Amino acid sequence: MADIQERDKLIKEWIAETAEKIEAAKSERLNIEEKSARNDLVTNMDKQIEKALTDKIRTQFPNDRICGEEGFGDELEDLDGTVWFIDPIDGTLNFVLQQENFAVMIGVYENGIGQQGYIYDVTQKRLYHAVKGQGVYCNEEPVEKPENKSLTEGLLATNSQLMTKDQFSEYRKLADQSMGVRMLGSAGLEVIELAKGNVIGYIASKLSPWDIAPGKVILEEFGFKIRQFDGTEVNLLNRNKTIFATPRAYDEIMTNIS
Ligand code: IPD
Ligand code: CA
Ligand code: CA
Repeated sequence: MADIQERDKLIKEWIAETAEKIEAAKSERLNIEEKSARNDLVTNMDKQIEKALTDKIRTQFPNDRICGEEGFGDELEDLDGTVWFIDPIDGTLNFVLQQENFAVMIGVYENGIGQQGYIYDVTQKRLYHAVKGQGVYCNEEPVEKPENKSLTEGLLATNSQLMTKDQFSEYRKLADQSMGVRMLGSAGLEVIELAKGNVIGYIASKLSPWDIAPGKVILEEFGFKIRQFDGTEVNLLNRNKTIFATPRAYDEIMTNIS
């Protein structure tokens, strides 16, 4: 197994290089393609970033496997050994339409257990990260554990997939019990909102392993719950309807949807 502190240093260097690349390409015209739908986009930057990160991982850690969104990784059938999860740009629609509110995300798991999670808010230049058992940091500053607030005491984040494609009436009850609903369009940035104590939960459908894995490591440092809507553990080989929440909000959400 790799030395975690050494890997942590490398990942931070790679994220800094990625940020420079995004900054340098700001004035260049983006090449945008549709994937499964008109609002499921990929740009040349998503591809370039994932390719660069997978190349670096393969050079430094040739025995590790990679699960990435844009196809430069491996086909995974299990989570044995060291597995890297990469979302080169989380919030591609925001990247294209807003030029802000997107993140670069990396997670490292060993035999299915989260060891390291990194979410870099590119426009704010803030890297939220955690090494299992060592607390959560924003850049080099420790992040204080947020209060264990209940659903009724806080704001609830969600994603537009849940609102437009799923049985929304089920979730309206939750929204109604909370103080209000918020939606940023980036799973990673919603995790940061939870880590800051700005929202008490994030409920989202169709999240892929790379949307979940980095944030799971960060929020588990605070003892937050990350589960599928049926209460089972998330499956990092598949898409999941996912709840990220404070322990109190999680219990209330489960009571309402089950
Ligand atoms: C998406 C964003 C969005 C969430 C989607 C994700 P992408 O990631 O995190 O907020 O609702 O489910 O797929 O495609 O921009 O990396
Ligand atoms: Ca994503
Ligand atoms: Ca992405």
